[in-house]
Amino acid sequence: MIPVWIDCDTGVDDAAALLLAHQLKELEIVGISTVAGNVRLEKTCENTRKVCTLAGCNYPVYRGADRPLLRPYKDAALFHGADGLGGAAIMEAAYAAESLPAWDAIYRAAQAHPGELELVAVGPMTNIAIALLKYPTLSKLLKRVLIMGGAAVGGNCTPCAEFNIYTDPEAAQQLFRSGVPIVMCGLDVTLKAYITPQEIDALLSRGGEVAKFFAESTKNSLRLSLEHGLPGVCMHDSCPLLYLTHPQLFCGEEAGVFVETQAHLTLGKTVTDLYSDHQFAEKNALVLLDIDREKFLEVFTRAIAAYG
Ligand code: RIB
Ligand code: CA
Repeated sequence: MIPVWIDCDTGVDDAAALLLAHQLKELEIVGISTVAGNVRLEKTCENTRKVCTLAGCNYPVYRGADRPLLRPYKDAALFHGADGLGGAAIMEAAYAAESLPAWDAIYRAAQAHPGELELVAVGPMTNIAIALLKYPTLSKLLKRVLIMGGAAVGGNCTPCAEFNIYTDPEAAQQLFRSGVPIVMCGLDVTLKAYITPQEIDALLSRGGEVAKFFAESTKNSLRLSLEHGLPGVCMHDSCPLLYLTHPQLFCGEEAGVFVETQAHLTLGKTVTDLYSDHQFAEKNALVLLDIDREKFLEVFTRAIAAYG
């Protein structure tokens, strides 16, 4: 079993990633922490517990930061809906959040699994940065941090910055400088992890409450994705989790990655030294660049169908 901690800002693709993770039986989900991101913290925390209730599980859920380290909070409600779940019908959460703050819970979990805990961060990295700053030994206790964030090329908030990094660039830079081994699932790979309308319909036709929730929750983000010229809706946050159980579906390169936190035009860019002559002093991340989409879709569809 792989002990894993998930830090998320449950919006639509975080919800899909949680539904996938629960069906990846190699994963031992130790805990889930929530952060302000797609929508406000109270909502991301509530959404996380609702999705766990829908999945029939009750992983402990913790509240983290309700805003970035230094900058004003910005949401992504246009894409995820005001409720963060695309307005999809879903039952109330069957349980409350824990009282321990996220950063303390992450540290305790790392202490309980020294050198083994895989920390998956699929929202702004504020909680991760606070935990690393409060507990200097955490960077040595964690096995890896696998993020959905950044892009070697491009961006979705600005031409060169991706949402999870752009909303809290200082937090992301704290992670990239921490020395923890990082697997970066940036837009380079996550834009290729899309599901088409036809494939969503095929999922829906197999029936079941979870498939119905998935189809309903992704409706708005699918429409916007198609309008932006994408072939489907991207399962960004599923990528780091899938890398844990199916690394063979991906390919990538070791590279030096550091975050722009000072500039205006390029704020939040993950400056990624894949090909340049002047290499950064260290290669601090495995940057994933490609995915076998057919195989990804097979695993994802099987996971959703497994809920019946
Ligand atoms: O840029 C995509 C990322 O931002 C995903 O994690 C999505 O959930 C949003 O948080
Ligand atoms: Ca997310």
